[in-house]
Amino acid sequence: MSTLTDEIKRLKEERHAVILAHNYVRPEVQDIADFTGDSLELSIKAKAVNAEVIVFCGVRFMAETAKLLSPQSMVLLPNSDAGCPMADMADPEPVANYRKAHPDAIFVAYVNSTAAVKAQVDICCTSGNAEKIIQSLPKDREILFLPDRNLGGNISGKLGVDMDLWPGFCPTHNRVTVEMIEKARAAAPDALVLVHPECTPEVVAAADQALSTGGILKFVRESNAKRFIIGTEAGILHRLRNENPGKEFLPLQPEMICPNMKKITLEDVARSLRDLTEQIEIAPELREAAVRPILRMLEVK
Ligand code: 13P
Ligand code: SF4
Repeated sequence: MSTLTDEIKRLKEERHAVILAHNYVRPEVQDIADFTGDSLELSIKAKAVNAEVIVFCGVRFMAETAKLLSPQSMVLLPNSDAGCPMADMADPEPVANYRKAHPDAIFVAYVNSTAAVKAQVDICCTSGNAEKIIQSLPKDREILFLPDRNLGGNISGKLGVDMDLWPGFCPTHNRVTVEMIEKARAAAPDALVLVHPECTPEVVAAADQALSTGGILKFVRESNAKRFIIGTEAGILHRLRNENPGKEFLPLQPEMICPNMKKITLEDVARSLRDLTEQIEIAPELREAAVRPILRMLEVK
């Protein structure tokens, strides 16, 4: 065990802290976490843990969601630069303007959004429950889905529900092309192609499954197939390989990396526990408005 890992363990006990990590973060950070999961699983965990300190190893919107659901806990984001470019593609002001122009529409926000934007919407969703959430909405109302046009477009196409789509996207998943899938299939014809629904609808149509990161882990666990082509951020390969020793995982692209998900290092985690930085702070009025759509989501789940 490295000294750094020992220090994290010691500080974690001293601080009565729990470390939550997203499936995309660095393998060594996943290894020191108490719980690793997808956005939905981590939201549920953040609400349930009731820890004095939650160290959130992921990106800012995830740490904000943890703070919204666990206001009594101190929530730390060990590297303050870890953001999500997609979440930053929906600014609160244009969302407010759109709301004024469409007063009867239902606003659905992917959790990959800022607290200021969540405060303006009716319900949130993750990639793990987006279908369920959209199906739970009244059929006769206009729906605006933000910020991910790809996730929105994929759900809209699958369910046959019309939605206005905000023009946001994930730079990491939006780069995947149908040609990449064709090339990977030609090299491994027996393998199943699993992608994330943040990929474009054309890519999702060319894949065998489009699932959240938690969905991919579950699908692989339950599948009889032996080889999988993985069309999502490379961090998920760590758990896939650890949890499925008899199966083979081929990355769709060798460098399918979200730079933000790689920002938190073990040094950051140790510093964060030592200095209690960076604490996520959300003003009480903003919290009250922003937690509402997340709680609605968790009621439907
Ligand atoms: P999951 O909810 O599938 O873990 O996805 C989060 C995310 O940011 C994907 O890019
Ligand atoms: Fe945001 Fe994409 Fe990174 Fe997920 S993978 S955190 S959506 S930029």
